[in-house]
Amino acid sequence: MSLLLQWAAVQLQPYVTLEHEEIVRLLELPPNLELGDVAFPCFALARTLKRAPAAIAEELAQRMNGDQQPVRAEAKGPYLNLFLQREEWAPKLLAPLLASDFGQSQAGAGQRVIIDLSSPNIAKPFGVGHLRSTMIGNALAQMYRVSGYEVVTVNHIGDWGTQFGKLMEAYRRWGDEAKLKEAPIKESLSLYVRFHEEVERDATLEDEARRWFWKLENGDEEAHRLWQYFVSFSMEEFDRVYARLGVKFDYTLGESFYNDKMGAVVDRLKELQLLEESNGAQVVRLDDEGLPPCLILKTDGTTIYPTRDLATALYRKKEMGGDLLLYVVGAEQKLHFNQVFAVLKHMGEEVADDCLHLPFGLMKFDGRKMSTRKGQVIFLDEVLDEAVAKALAIISEKNPELEGAQDVAEAVGIGAIVFGDLKHHRMLEIDFSLDEALRFEGETGPYVQYTAARAFKLLEKGGLSLSEAEVLSQSGAIAAAGGRYGQHLNGAAAWECLKALAAYPEAIAEAIRQHEPSVLARFLLDTAKRFNRFYHQERILTENEEETSAKLLLAAAVASLLRSGLTLLGLKTPTQI
Ligand code: ARG
Repeated sequence: MSLLLQWAAVQLQPYVTLEHEEIVRLLELPPNLELGDVAFPCFALARTLKRAPAAIAEELAQRMNGDQQPVRAEAKGPYLNLFLQREEWAPKLLAPLLASDFGQSQAGAGQRVIIDLSSPNIAKPFGVGHLRSTMIGNALAQMYRVSGYEVVTVNHIGDWGTQFGKLMEAYRRWGDEAKLKEAPIKESLSLYVRFHEEVERDATLEDEARRWFWKLENGDEEAHRLWQYFVSFSMEEFDRVYARLGVKFDYTLGESFYNDKMGAVVDRLKELQLLEESNGAQVVRLDDEGLPPCLILKTDGTTIYPTRDLATALYRKKEMGGDLLLYVVGAEQKLHFNQVFAVLKHMGEEVADDCLHLPFGLMKFDGRKMSTRKGQVIFLDEVLDEAVAKALAIISEKNPELEGAQDVAEAVGIGAIVFGDLKHHRMLEIDFSLDEALRFEGETGPYVQYTAARAFKLLEKGGLSLSEAEVLSQSGAIAAAGGRYGQHLNGAAAWECLKALAAYPEAIAEAIRQHEPSVLARFLLDTAKRFNRFYHQERILTENEEETSAKLLLAAAVASLLRSGLTLLGLKTPTQI
């Protein structure tokens, strides 16, 4: 909980007849400095005291100001606005910010969260939707982790389904092994596209494809060999993308992993008499929920996407011990998840209440859409390369002497894409502009990275390292310096920056509560802006040693926090740009 609120509650305690916790709960952080640092609304007291809230605020202000407290109180309507004495408070706020684990908590201790993310499909390109799922899911996983939860990330690869039948038939007819070796995903995609064109003329192709998939599900050797071949080259390509994005998974368990687990689900559904025949297929009716029936087995007895997700959810609950099951999957699959969760509920499975679909909107790149069927695809690798090349051009102009410019460009270019995604509310549809996302003076990842690098540069010039700053704070030296440091951090810009930094733990908690990495991304933008204001308004490296120390410690807190926050979102933080 915010230090500021805790402390304000302690100050207020002697004057009101409320418990500490209750005061903390009531306190608010006002939108601007004129309304104080913390505000106490007097409505709750008005009900118990049966007096007007404004009169209570007025009286409290008088009593508090009469007592020579390190706080100034001002009544404004029904609010009691508290202004902290900055000189005393700046060092107190600053000290904890310098701990390298600032922002971490044990809030989720004992809870296991299983996050389904990324989950691209074999033999198809890694789509923009998969990119969003990877980035949002990865950020959520990291935020949950630092909040004390035990997190298990699972990449639920789409490695099963009728599309493999199509691919096998297409490969048998038109496939070219050499081409496939050279550019596996592009080649299999064009096979897939060709299949869809030719099937218009020759409907028997569809039957052939179905037969292949049937063979695959029933252990046919040739089908299995082909399948494995497609899986291995796709995974190689995906892994390259993950390495560039710096994302790792605890488990990569494709849909095929659940092959031997679906029989039990189907049997259980039969036992519970939930399966019904519908045009030769087996479905579970969901009329009560106002949902269309959920397809479980197709006419030829082969399984389908929802069947596999039923087995998956039960496995994650029962075998993996998940307390909360999150699915970071595009909004277009809302119906699918509603159906799967509803079937689990009909089965009386406890896990039904532990599942949460976290949808997100579509993203276009510079107006370009993507569709796997028609083959108008933008490949992610190409987008990443373009971003890195553009980042390199900007960096080379800004700082021609920079060492390791290529690595920095990789961090900034990819960071621009990741941040450009995560700064938006996840449900928003994004028309992504690379140029915009790369602007160093905008609401961008590079802006935050650049600000962090600026803070690191100051530390280097001033001869202070982050670990030295941490030691100083832990040794109590900052607290001991007290007002001697405080007097140099009492300007509005420094004070606003400090207060923002102190709210980092709440930003993480709120981002988790809403399952919204954008809350953290916005927080980092805001913090970076405040630090830049301080940087531009005040001299940091001065002749006065104490002043320089105090201000450098603030820069250290900024560098440390921006790096920690960017890491949670999946961005790197170069110390020089
Ligand atoms: N492979 C699927 C797709 O690309 C996403 C899988 C999401 N996860 C799940 N458990 N259904 O559409």
